[in-house]
Amino acid sequence: MKNTQAYILQHKNRFLEELLDMLRIPSVSADPAYKGDVARTAEFVAEKLRSAGADLVEVFPTAGHPIVYGEKMIDPAKPTVLVYGHYDVQPADPLELWTSGPFEPVIKKTELHPDGAIYARGSCDDKGQVYMHIKAFEAMLAAGELPCNVKFMVEGEEEVGSVNLGSFLKEHRPRLDCDVILISDTSIIDNQTPSITVGLRGLSYVEVEVTAANRDLHSGVYGGAVANPINILSKMIASMQDENNHITIPGFYEDVLTVPAHERKAMNEAPFNEKHYMSDLGIGSVHGEAGYTTLERTSIRPTLDVNGVWGGYIGEGAKTVLPSKAFAKISMRLVPNQDPDKITDLFARHFKAIAPPSVQVEVRAHHGGLPVVTPTDTPEYQAAAKAMEQTFGKAPIPQRGGGSIPIVALFESILGVKSVLMGFGLDSDNIHSPNEHYGLFNFYKGIETIPYFYQYYSELK
Ligand code: BES
Ligand code: MN
Ligand code: MN
Repeated sequence: MKNTQAYILQHKNRFLEELLDMLRIPSVSADPAYKGDVARTAEFVAEKLRSAGADLVEVFPTAGHPIVYGEKMIDPAKPTVLVYGHYDVQPADPLELWTSGPFEPVIKKTELHPDGAIYARGSCDDKGQVYMHIKAFEAMLAAGELPCNVKFMVEGEEEVGSVNLGSFLKEHRPRLDCDVILISDTSIIDNQTPSITVGLRGLSYVEVEVTAANRDLHSGVYGGAVANPINILSKMIASMQDENNHITIPGFYEDVLTVPAHERKAMNEAPFNEKHYMSDLGIGSVHGEAGYTTLERTSIRPTLDVNGVWGGYIGEGAKTVLPSKAFAKISMRLVPNQDPDKITDLFARHFKAIAPPSVQVEVRAHHGGLPVVTPTDTPEYQAAAKAMEQTFGKAPIPQRGGGSIPIVALFESILGVKSVLMGFGLDSDNIHSPNEHYGLFNFYKGIETIPYFYQYYSELK
């Protein structure tokens, strides 16, 4: 990979400029107002795949946002790596908390990123990481060092649950035939401590609506005699975790696999400084399920969190009103071997069961996803580990992640192919939050490391 690495060094400034161009397009998949920008980003990715040298590049429309495909088949006898990523991003709000425009990328230095970090929505999740792959591919091809076949599938709906990707996989199965799926959409422990993600949590996401009276009422005339749905909803939510922060939904833990003591011991040996964690977040204490460490709480244990709650009067000043309705969006992160549909069902039953007769409740299911665990005794894990060891000078630590990429389970069930999660972000890069950023170190380290993955995977496979 000598010539590849030389090519990368020679073109690194252009690579960055191109990424900044991609970050300027606001590809917010959740908001219909950005539909055109999402489509433009798909075209951008397609154009960059073409100019990097990919064949059969195509932008596939779906019922939602398009999927970009491209490939380079050099020899059917060689293994095929399918690169998956997403070009859509989370909404940028609250805008006033950004120190620069979310779609006006700028480089700023930080304590953890002394070489500078790119500030923009999507810089880390996942445009910056997708772009590392396109540039690593361009470099290998230009240097005449591409060791195997490559396919790219970059989608625009990951942040809204990848709702149309499953049917795309079924429809295009032969085209997507591959030996392994390579994904950079996760993090490393820190820039001196590489890690490979070997697990992701699943997800069940619901929205609840609590209705009391059939209209808003004067809170003096009726208050005290008619249920306040916001008060009721607050109590219902509060009751769903007990004093040990165990979730109280009957059957919730029924299918949770217990992680053996030696695995728990190993995961707690990973470098982690709880004091830094707390001071970085500005919290006086961590919070979570009794009997588990912070690293365990964010990886091997399920959660229940309110993501948003609303109802009643939230305008200027005070309005005395007894609201008719209250709402909340609630997510549950799941671990092996919990099933999202079953959990959604258990939640809905329980929520209805604990509602007092003074209110009516409705539960609506949003997207969900299965948890995954990936083995370390595979050629793909070994190749990723060797590649990282080569470029970081240190073997990576296998670590389970707390986030979700629901499509990974579908890759396994529909395509029958395993994924390797070789991400380069940091947990502190503010993904989904104001001031998202991605270290230049991380961007270039990714481009440098990816070609070695291809090389070692081709050798080991
Ligand atoms: N890249 C993240 C997932 C992630 C981040 C995994 C960091 C591990 C470490 C992905 O884009 C994401 O945000 N997924 C969503 C799920 C989805 C169904 C909206 C999530 O985890 O909330
Ligand atoms: Mn992502
Ligand atoms: Mn995300």
